[in-house]
Amino acid sequence: MSGSQFNPPGAQLLHDIKRVVGDAGWMDVTDAQRHFDDPRGRFKGRGCLIVMPDKTEQVAAIVRACNGAKAGIVPYSGGTGVVAGQLSIDSDNAVILSLERMNKVREVSLDDGVIIAEAGCILENIHNAALEQGMMFPLSMASKGSCCIGGNLATNAGGIQVLRYGNARDLCLGIEAVLPCGTILSELSPLHKNNTGYDLRHLLIGSEGTLGIITAASLILKPVDPETATALLAIKSPAHALMVYKAIRQHLGDATSALELMSGLGLDLVTSMFPTLRNPLEHGSDWALLLEATGPLGIGERLETALTDCFENNLVLDAVVARSQSQRDNLWALRENTPEANRMSGAFCNSDTSVPISEVDAFINDTNAAIADIHPDVRINSYGHIGDGNIHHNVIPPAGVAKAEFLTSNPGIIDAVRMAINQTSHRHGGSISAEHGIGRLKTRDLEAFADKARYDAIRRIKVALDPNNIMNPGVLIN
Ligand code: LAC
Ligand code: ZN
Repeated sequence: MSGSQFNPPGAQLLHDIKRVVGDAGWMDVTDAQRHFDDPRGRFKGRGCLIVMPDKTEQVAAIVRACNGAKAGIVPYSGGTGVVAGQLSIDSDNAVILSLERMNKVREVSLDDGVIIAEAGCILENIHNAALEQGMMFPLSMASKGSCCIGGNLATNAGGIQVLRYGNARDLCLGIEAVLPCGTILSELSPLHKNNTGYDLRHLLIGSEGTLGIITAASLILKPVDPETATALLAIKSPAHALMVYKAIRQHLGDATSALELMSGLGLDLVTSMFPTLRNPLEHGSDWALLLEATGPLGIGERLETALTDCFENNLVLDAVVARSQSQRDNLWALRENTPEANRMSGAFCNSDTSVPISEVDAFINDTNAAIADIHPDVRINSYGHIGDGNIHHNVIPPAGVAKAEFLTSNPGIIDAVRMAINQTSHRHGGSISAEHGIGRLKTRDLEAFADKARYDAIRRIKVALDPNNIMNPGVLIN
């Protein structure tokens, strides 16, 4: 976690910033609401001013003023990040720059296959704007109704369709951003090929607001596939999930868009916390796989043929195939409410590591064993994007034990479990952050596990582009 790196802003700077945006463009911190909330309730944000520019030029003027005064800015997007990248947690001096008023879709070009959206566009609104033109924007995650594309790009978000369409960076052709010195990098080009030196777009994407503020992006649109097939399968183990995927690929090629592992425990938690949800698999199983494929008409039939093969080869114990959109929504509701069910059940660790696909099964077994060594009675809900090697382990106190009471009687367990997961992931050739980023929560983990040459290069890039350390200080490196 970071120590404070924010200088006091000074009355003149705050006055200048307010003048840039006018009365509608700023808010006193006492009026801030969601801006200081952490989705998992672990942190509380702080700051001296919430500023809400509505034009890129305003963002640039604010950044220039802050850079002149060496005052730190925390860029704020949808507020759904889980590693405190959007929260100043140790200083009242931060200027919170929210992109919420920059929420326009500037252009949709069907010929270029792009949508140009401002950073404050809610992801779901981009989905809808694309659908209105008969196209789709594939980046998707449970928080799609509140996360914004600026934050999605700043954190290189993943989600549930990475398997087929890639991470946020793979769906972005160009960005407009304000650099720490206050200049505007205007690269909203729809070019698919542009081989002219360093790709600054990819430097800014995933930089978590430490190298500049993304203000708009050209995003890649994909055609809407005519048919979607969704199934929930009961399986014996994570290894079986991957064998099912292999079998399905033989029938459907690369049509699988989502492959989400769920645990029997996770399904029990989500159905008990959300009583309107039902697990349609009649016999309980230790593991389940939510699978979705999209493609030309007939993809559903081909999936059923593939599943018949899987049954014959004992890869699948039971299967429910959605017959309507509402059945499909019900299956997805089980998955999408899982993080909230974990929280409600008292999860005290929510990991986000990735390993090579070939290591996933061993990784899950080894982490479960390592956590059981730390405390034999905790419950572990291991779930997530198994096709990407990205498993979230949620560690929950034993049934009937409240989180606060458990943490009091087991001091140090949060760090011990986190380290056990990080070390196991590292041993299996993995990463300590698959899709959530580093934020302020994982700076020490990054320093401990990153390759030294890589870490050093990150530091030097940061100093070169942001010598006054005004862009999201304390994030990534501390
Ligand atoms: C998920 C979030 C936590 O996949 O990344 O549920
Ligand atoms: Zn995830």
